[in-house]
Amino acid sequence: MEFKKSQKLYKKGLKHLVGAVNSPVRAFSSVGGNPLFIKKAKGSIITDVDGNTFVDLVLSYGPMILGHRHKKVQKAIDKALKNGYTFGASTENEIKLAKIVCDAFPGMDKVRFVNSGTEAVLSGIRLARAFTGKDKIIKFAGCYHGHQDALLVAAGSGLATLSLPGSKGVPEGAVRNTLIAKYNDLESVKAHFEEHDDIAGVILEPIAGNMGVVIPQNDFLKELKAYLETKGALLIVDEVMTGFRSKFGGAQELLGVEADITCLGKVVGGGFPVGAYGACNEIMQEVAPLGGMYQAGTLSGNPIAMAGGIATLTELKKQNPYEKFNEIAQIIEVFLLEKAKKHGVEITVNRFGSMINPFFTNVTVTNFDEAQTSDTKKFATFFWEMMHNGVFLPPSQFEAWFLSSALTEKDIQKIAKAIDKGMEAVAKM
Ligand SMILES: Cc1ncc(COP(=O)(O)O)c(C=O)c1O
Repeated sequence: MEFKKSQKLYKKGLKHLVGAVNSPVRAFSSVGGNPLFIKKAKGSIITDVDGNTFVDLVLSYGPMILGHRHKKVQKAIDKALKNGYTFGASTENEIKLAKIVCDAFPGMDKVRFVNSGTEAVLSGIRLARAFTGKDKIIKFAGCYHGHQDALLVAAGSGLATLSLPGSKGVPEGAVRNTLIAKYNDLESVKAHFEEHDDIAGVILEPIAGNMGVVIPQNDFLKELKAYLETKGALLIVDEVMTGFRSKFGGAQELLGVEADITCLGKVVGGGFPVGAYGACNEIMQEVAPLGGMYQAGTLSGNPIAMAGGIATLTELKKQNPYEKFNEIAQIIEVFLLEKAKKHGVEITVNRFGSMINPFFTNVTVTNFDEAQTSDTKKFATFFWEMMHNGVFLPPSQFEAWFLSSALTEKDIQKIAKAIDKGMEAVAKM
């Protein structure tokens, strides 16, 4: 497998793009080599500019849950494009998508569409502060909530990949009101409440995907919610990754917990730049034009993006692929464990619904510290062997692999074969 054209474009891209990428997670910093340049994708398969084809387990970091260019989504977008691209005024499709979202998340009476997961979360945080009149927010180490200043501390995703504790350029004042707790550890949350009486809420990934997949243990979320109620603080659930992915009603439906404020992104736009945040009427009453919390956007509720979201969610609801996702994830888990054992490689596998990944460690991974015991060099070797055997993975130990409903039996066999080769290569290191 050759990557000559990707390498050529990478060199060309370096002149006017930072690292030749528009998001650091796309750089191959922790696995070595150059980022891949993509030509096209269809269904479960993605094709690079060199003509190499891969089973896609990146899926644009989650949104492409139906696979690429599903015919119903494509049709809806083609139709919307004919009417214009953006108007700076409302369209009926915004109301339609809002209903689909609010029906899926019982805690949401109203929703506001924005343009990314980052925007959804920063607005959700502002809303929590506006509603409670308090300033402090607790986040968990290893959870990533987008690149807003206040939450760029102890974050997962690209920061974990690049081993950065936070970001340069974030003023001390911006993170003064951010408190860090340990995932799956309610006591670490309680300790903050004992020290501070101005905590507006706690934000978390209900199933973490940005330190690799980390699952809430036992009744962590339910207990957290019950505790926050006693403190008059809000539970802000960042379902940017898990919304419509873990279940149609997100991780909240799966785990039986209702957020005070829910943040969405990725799948909700079906591959277009859409984020959303929502809550019950009482809380959403704070948002302008109804209330005094200002938040706006030139392209928010963009008509093409709304059409993509409606078509994706309508098809997803019809397919209801969640049981199938579980089955496929279980098959992949078994492959990983069996092949690792066969080649004498120590791994831990975490999976939840359509999110899965191995950690190259013998430690059970329930939080960021444990995730960081992984041998990232082993992951890099494994990653390249998977690529050479036709499986596109996120180029980082600390990202989830995603499943789409477009995966075929043939794809799964290809993944199995690649895993065998990948583990063999790790064993030879
Ligand atoms: C849980 C979570 N929240 C927020 C974000 C930020 O979303 P975006 O990249 O669309 O700004 C991400 C992105 O990966 C995410 O996984």
